[in-house]
Amino acid sequence: MMNRPVVKAELVDWMREKQTPVQGDLETVLNFAQENNIPVIPHETVVYFQMLIQLIKPKRILEIGTAIGFSALMMAQAAPECEIVTIDRNQEMIELAKDNLSKFDKRKQITLLEGDAADLLSTLDGQYDLVFMDSAKSKYVDFLPFALNLLSENGVILMDDIFQAGEILIPIMEIKRNQRALERGLRRLFDEVLNNPKFLTSILPLGDGLLMIKPNKV
Ligand SMILES: C[S@@+](CC[C@H](N)C(=O)[O-])C[C@H]1O[C@@H](n2cnc3c(N)ncnc32)[C@H](O)[C@@H]1O
Repeated sequence: MMNRPVVKAELVDWMREKQTPVQGDLETVLNFAQENNIPVIPHETVVYFQMLIQLIKPKRILEIGTAIGFSALMMAQAAPECEIVTIDRNQEMIELAKDNLSKFDKRKQITLLEGDAADLLSTLDGQYDLVFMDSAKSKYVDFLPFALNLLSENGVILMDDIFQAGEILIPIMEIKRNQRALERGLRRLFDEVLNNPKFLTSILPLGDGLLMIKPNKV
């Protein structure tokens, strides 16, 4: 679970304490992630996804960034009829994810695609009601056109960790050199989608920031 809350720490603790905890198989996967410092979506984002999925009732979900399969399994549990395609390029994560999916994806809802999303996205077809990006942040802007192509009529795109713990506020030249590509990518994304009549967007201060994007049909 990512622990870089941008909301007052006491309020984040309160949100985590008061809302339904992660339980059962998901808790097993979450505990493993926490013990091994594997970043997965935080509790308040889990709860938000569970609500959103109940509301939009997706039939197909695309996720970029599987890690060990925690968020994919959470979405599968929240939408038992839904088909989920999830992509990861890291071999170590892929092996752990495969193990978790074989144990916990009881309805066989989840398909894990191995490789870089930059190569795989153009090979996908069909339509997805929800596209969740939780991978290299510098690439969100490059993945956006593919996600838009794959989006169903009422589909929505979600992107995690867009605040970068507040670094997005800092002028680019004051950011450490090795972080600049990531920051440039995020800023290109913000220039592209925020305050653009082609899109409806909403930024939620959950975890390290969650951006929702929907083509504006009005
Ligand atoms: C934050 S973790 C995902 C956590 C997961 N969504 C969860 O909450 O359980 C990010 C993952 O994205 C993967 N990743 C990063 N860039 C990627 C890319 N371009 N293509 C595929 N996977 C990528 C990494 O290997 C890593 O496992």
